[in-house]
Amino acid sequence: MDEITKIHASLRTVEWKENKVVMIDQTKLPNQLVFVTYDDFNQVADAIRNLVVRGAPAIGVSGAFGLALASLQSKAETKEQLLQDLEKARKILFETRPTAVNLAWGLERIMKTANSGNSAEQIRNLVINEAKKMADQDIEINKTMGKIGSKLFDNNDTIMTHCNAGALATVAYGTALGVIRAIKESGKNVKVIATETRPVQQGSRLTAFELKHDGFDVSLIPDTAVGYSMANGLVNKVIVGADRIVKTGHVFNKIGTYQVATMAKQHGIPFYVAAPLSTFDMKTNAKDVIIEMRKGIEVTGIGDKKTAPDGISVINPAFDMTPPELISGIITEKGIAKPPYEESIKKLFEDT
Ligand code: MRU
Repeated sequence: MDEITKIHASLRTVEWKENKVVMIDQTKLPNQLVFVTYDDFNQVADAIRNLVVRGAPAIGVSGAFGLALASLQSKAETKEQLLQDLEKARKILFETRPTAVNLAWGLERIMKTANSGNSAEQIRNLVINEAKKMADQDIEINKTMGKIGSKLFDNNDTIMTHCNAGALATVAYGTALGVIRAIKESGKNVKVIATETRPVQQGSRLTAFELKHDGFDVSLIPDTAVGYSMANGLVNKVIVGADRIVKTGHVFNKIGTYQVATMAKQHGIPFYVAAPLSTFDMKTNAKDVIIEMRKGIEVTGIGDKKTAPDGISVINPAFDMTPPELISGIITEKGIAKPPYEESIKKLFEDT
């Protein structure tokens, strides 16, 4: 694995280069912009597990690139042998993180492509091309979603966002932050308030970094200042991304999203979600979605500094569920779903 530290003018989170996967190591941000290069799908699995790459669309594409690496690593000479090797790799990649449905979506799309090939050599080519196509499509989809969503926002809005649903959570551009980018590109002037998003601080480390890097007027608040900011008129709209949206419009996103949405409702502030269709799970019921529980160490300290007593018991869910009644609209590349969500979400897929 190579590590090269460099500063780039624009952020591409994950990329296929010379039969290797190159990613920004997000655990090092905002202090260092480090690119890591992987040639083994197990390294990609570790990267997803350890949040080197994170954010639902980014891990979907990373999973696909992981399978592309697995196809090159495999010594298989027949279609059947290669499909078996790919299936083993798919399982390892799938088990890295449970909540974002984009991971399963990305892996399934590549497995389907692999099954359509006639020989091991053809499968390798098809799989690599499909994964590259998924990465390019992710950017196009975000741009389309941005244009559609930008119409919901006005000049001089101050928009709150939670976690990181930006270029760093996707291949580039972003979902929620993609909408914010598109608002600016349409000539409207907006300010952003980013929550720090404890415990891993995707808001302060990543959103604040990314928006500042791109010249946005962004202010950082502690998660506990959401109510204060809304009650004191500092915010007039909210936009977040999503890890999984089920057919009833229940949105699974970074822990704390439910609190932000509840506060927004209390203060009559519109709360929007931006997510591509690959984030929708039309099969699973809300109650059956697995919420990832992470290690206590993320809560018992900040960086290397310990902030809790030894041996303390910790509850550290990585995601929560926001019910549809708190959501003003779900922005997708196929349009904006509005309540009642069961009908509007179904329609998004019928038109596809
Ligand atoms: O634990 P993470 O950092 O992978 O969680 C990411 C989020 O919750 C994002 O808000 C979500 O994936 C939307 S990204 C476009």
